Amino acid sequence: MLTACIRKGRHTMSLLRENSEFTINVPREGSDKKILGYCGSRFGRDTDKIADLGLTLVEPQVVSVPAIEEMPLTLECRMLYMQPQVIADLKPEEQKWYPQDKPSTAGGSNKDEHITVYGEIVAAYLLD
Ligand SMILES: Cc1cc2nc3c(=O)[nH]c(=O)nc-3n(C[C@H](O)[C@H](O)[C@H](O)COP(=O)(O)O)c2cc1C
Repeated sequence: MLTACIRKGRHTMSLLRENSEFTINVPREGSDKKILGYCGSRFGRDTDKIADLGLTLVEPQVVSVPAIEEMPLTLECRMLYMQPQVIADLKPEEQKWYPQDKPSTAGGSNKDEHITVYGEIVAAYLLD
């Protein structure tokens, strides 16, 4: 199992609601840092990050979504459960990470709670 905390309004969350299978793609030492920076700051609803970066999709072993050659440590997952966080139940000093004046469309902190996604890892491997 793994858990990932994804804000409710992220494009990533919309994709997960359409297809509950996903891959986690981890770079290796020496991988191009630009990839993580770009993927972590651009919105999938506005641009095709795979095409923009020229990433190479690789046939998966079990699930229906691909691995990525440039980020070779791959965990193929099937989502089992999604659990929304209750912002009011966070310690008061942590609630600053959910500024209610910042819309869902803002990158970084915004008004949206995180949803904890529980994934069963059905395959794990390092691409050549
Ligand atoms: C280092 C780093 C870590 C991040 N961690 C998370 C996270 O755990 N959950 C989340 O929802 N967004 C996180 N983000 C923000 C998203 O990666 C960012 O909003 C991205 O544009 C969302 O892409 P999407 O719209 O295609 O889903 C992180 C960004 C960076 C740079």
